[in-house]
Amino acid sequence: MNDGKFEKVADSYSKMFYYSPYYTMLAEFLEKHLGDATSVLEIGAADGIVAMAWNRLRESSSNSAPLTYFAVEPVERMVNIAKERAKEMTINFLPTVGDIEHAVGLAEIENAHIDGLVISRVLHEVFIQHNLDHERLFADIRRVLEAKHPKVVVLGIVNRYIGLNAEETRRFIEEQTKEIGHGHDPAKEYVDQNLLDVFMQSQGYKIIDRGGVTQPLNGFDPSPWGETITVYRAE
Ligand SMILES: C[S@@+](CC[C@H](N)C(=O)[O-])C[C@H]1O[C@@H](n2cnc3c(N)ncnc32)[C@H](O)[C@@H]1O
Repeated sequence: MNDGKFEKVADSYSKMFYYSPYYTMLAEFLEKHLGDATSVLEIGAADGIVAMAWNRLRESSSNSAPLTYFAVEPVERMVNIAKERAKEMTINFLPTVGDIEHAVGLAEIENAHIDGLVISRVLHEVFIQHNLDHERLFADIRRVLEAKHPKVVVLGIVNRYIGLNAEETRRFIEEQTKEIGHGHDPAKEYVDQNLLDVFMQSQGYKIIDRGGVTQPLNGFDPSPWGETITVYRAE
């Protein structure tokens, strides 16, 4: 599945990213486009950081509409932390152990209605597990779309960045490792946004919103490390 990198950071994951503007933007998109949804599914939910950020925003904006938030995450330790956090939330957050490939077959999810699908900073992990094959990654997403027909899909990806030389790539990975415990080659190991858009369009989804953030990276100006969040809606 993965090489243990997320087991290692299970206890500190949310703390590492607590102040990242990425989650503020993601929560705002979720509230804007899924604020009146009754059910969502998140894939690769880690320790519940996205649900927490959205729950916080809903509480501060007095949105108390009932929301069932299904979530799958392969790392059991993360799921256990997420379940503890669920107890403090107003939304009905239901994390369970599972991965993108098997998500729709899980008993908790199988018969559930889903208005929205959320996949945040996970697609590159699946892409790497599929030996950098976009088609195999898209097959995993397609399985969820065809089974669940979510009206709104929110995908947050780390940007592919082409143009660093070998030495810059080495430094990029080194600096990223200092920040988050592991690093990736930005030209090879991140998913291509254009291919993702073409794939989503081929599944009958159009882009209705998009935003981006840049993560500062020591020694790089401008920083090549950033994320893009895209909201797609079924046509
Ligand atoms: C960078 S974290 C992102 C977590 C969270 N969604 C966020 O936005 O912060 C990537 C997560 O994807 C999970 N993951 C790795 N492979 C996966 C797979 N095949 N299916 C679902 N989740 C996976 C990891 O365990 C990890 O929790």
